[in-house]
Amino acid sequence: MANTITTNDQSKIIDMFNNISSTYDLLNRLLSFGIDQRWRKTACKKVLKGLEKDDLTIIDVACGTGDMLIAWKETSHKLGRNISSFVGVDPSVGMLNVAREKISWCNFKEGKATELPFEDNSIDIISITYGIRNVVDLESAFKEFYRVLKPGGRLVILEFAKQERESALDKFAKWYLHQMIPLIGGLISKDKGAYKYLPDSIAGFITSNELNNIQKNCGFEIVETKDYSFKISTMFISKKPE
Ligand SMILES: C[S@@+](CC[C@H](N)C(=O)[O-])C[C@H]1O[C@@H](n2cnc3c(N)ncnc32)[C@H](O)[C@@H]1O
Repeated sequence: MANTITTNDQSKIIDMFNNISSTYDLLNRLLSFGIDQRWRKTACKKVLKGLEKDDLTIIDVACGTGDMLIAWKETSHKLGRNISSFVGVDPSVGMLNVAREKISWCNFKEGKATELPFEDNSIDIISITYGIRNVVDLESAFKEFYRVLKPGGRLVILEFAKQERESALDKFAKWYLHQMIPLIGGLISKDKGAYKYLPDSIAGFITSNELNNIQKNCGFEIVETKDYSFKISTMFISKKPE
């Protein structure tokens, strides 16, 4: 029987990522068909083009095994932009260990979105990709992002969108998410509960409008919100006012 993880138990969510860290990358590629790489690079490009500044400091919160940091590095190189410091932050030691093996040019710190180990007004860009859904106390996290960002700094979020319509494609997406992902993910990771948590946490997450309202309440200006690939993934870019 799959171990059920509810979306409001922060320490169980982090333990679950520790459990699946060794198979996370393989399953991520298999289950997303690699499209996530395109979503990541598009987000990096949009943020870098909208922020005309050199020697940028970037932190990737909920960095997991480090894929967004790789997207930042490759995209900034392609655009000829200089990043002076990259830091990945995650509360899961298992995920951080995988990231450290893959990436040598970045610092990693253990930490939660609600308690970031950085000074006030010290960072140009914060990203959080497919991670915000796992943060139980959203308001505290957005307040923390606001505290750490420099005035004019950008926050970029990628997250799976909650499917609210019921077209044939949505039905297929729902079947894939609720049936196939727990089956394949459970077989490979040997943790069916973790791959059942994925669709449950997407279905239980707030809508894009609600997410933007929390951001606005915490002081952010919304820059752009855009859905990709038939609304599977949503990009949110916001700004701390100057
Ligand atoms: C689905 S993974 C995404 C990893 C990576 N960002 C990516 O795009 O592949 C979610 C990550 O969120 C992390 N996480 C869970 N709770 C968190 C919290 N409260 N604050 C920050 N990260 C958290 C997990 O440890 C995990 O590494």
